[in-house]
Amino acid sequence: MNEEPPQQAVPIPADQVDFLIATAARAPSVHNTQPWRFRATEHAVELYADPSRKLQADPIGREMLISCGAALFGLRLAVRSLGYLPVVELLPDRDQLRLLARVTLGASEPMTIPERRMLEALPHRHTHRGPFTPGSLPDGLLVGLQHDALAEGATLAVISPGAAYQKLADIVGATSGRQNLGPAAQADARRWSRNPADSAYDGVPAHAFPPRAGPQPGRLPQRDFDLGRGLGLLPVEGPPPAATTVLLTPADHRADWLRAGQALHRLLAHAASKWVFASLYTQPLEAAEIRALIKDRLALPGSPQIVLQLGLARTTQATARRPPTDLAEP
Ligand SMILES: Cc1cc2nc3c(=O)[nH]c(=O)nc-3n(C[C@H](O)[C@H](O)[C@H](O)COP(=O)(O)O)c2cc1C
Repeated sequence: MNEEPPQQAVPIPADQVDFLIATAARAPSVHNTQPWRFRATEHAVELYADPSRKLQADPIGREMLISCGAALFGLRLAVRSLGYLPVVELLPDRDQLRLLARVTLGASEPMTIPERRMLEALPHRHTHRGPFTPGSLPDGLLVGLQHDALAEGATLAVISPGAAYQKLADIVGATSGRQNLGPAAQADARRWSRNPADSAYDGVPAHAFPPRAGPQPGRLPQRDFDLGRGLGLLPVEGPPPAATTVLLTPADHRADWLRAGQALHRLLAHAASKWVFASLYTQPLEAAEIRALIKDRLALPGSPQIVLQLGLARTTQATARRPPTDLAEP
């Protein structure tokens, strides 16, 4: 597509392009695959999927698109910090399936305080797979995170600690072992996990996963990145998370996955601004029938995309990202 930009279109400041792309690329992504590429034009930043980084266990690209949606939220937040409202065309060209979004600069409007807090939280936001600090979440935070999800066209369902949690834990417990042991999941974990000496800019580093993925009280079984190799450096035992939630979308199509990713990154950044972090669980959700089962058994008002457990933590260790120069869409 070769459209002329509208007359009043604001140029993307050339000296901010790396900042925009680097901020987008701090997003969480499945296995830290960072399955995105960017093209900056005079008036837009375009986000592309990079299917060479798609998981084998994700043939339809659902997790890839959720990850790219998370990057899109980071890009929008970065645009806000330049003092503009981002204008997003989602899936702008049906002939270019990899082109996921085109972001231009809209009206001038100063960044709000909550937006600035989210931006400031991005460097320490991380997926938390180790023990949490005991204690409940700050008052009102869960409702705030539910609002974040709604503002992005998704829903954050809070799973109550009693019977509902047990139903979810039973399904996840019964299915994650099977998913972890599947050949596709094992190949993915091998390709994308990193030993302590590896200085790669992608994949999940040994400092970010435990050596065992087994169940613990109050905590769902985690994805197995270690595969019995004894690489993981995080402690296994410790206080569990404080809350369990499921991120839902109205339907289960590409636009929904992009919305789920934006909602995910928004609520994770908000939580991180209060030093609350999440463990993420998607291995049970890789099978459509398990997503349907969880939706049905828990009577959830939408399609489950990500299970999250949230808790307080006082430490953080960010994982690496590829630099903007590696992310250019040719
Ligand atoms: C769509 C999606 C699915 C994910 N699934 C899992 C998961 O099943 N288990 C897990 O431990 N982390 C999961 N994560 C978290 C990623 O592994 C994590 O974002 C990535 O390794 C980068 O690390 P960071 O979040 O600490 O920056 C997922 C993230 C996304 C965006």
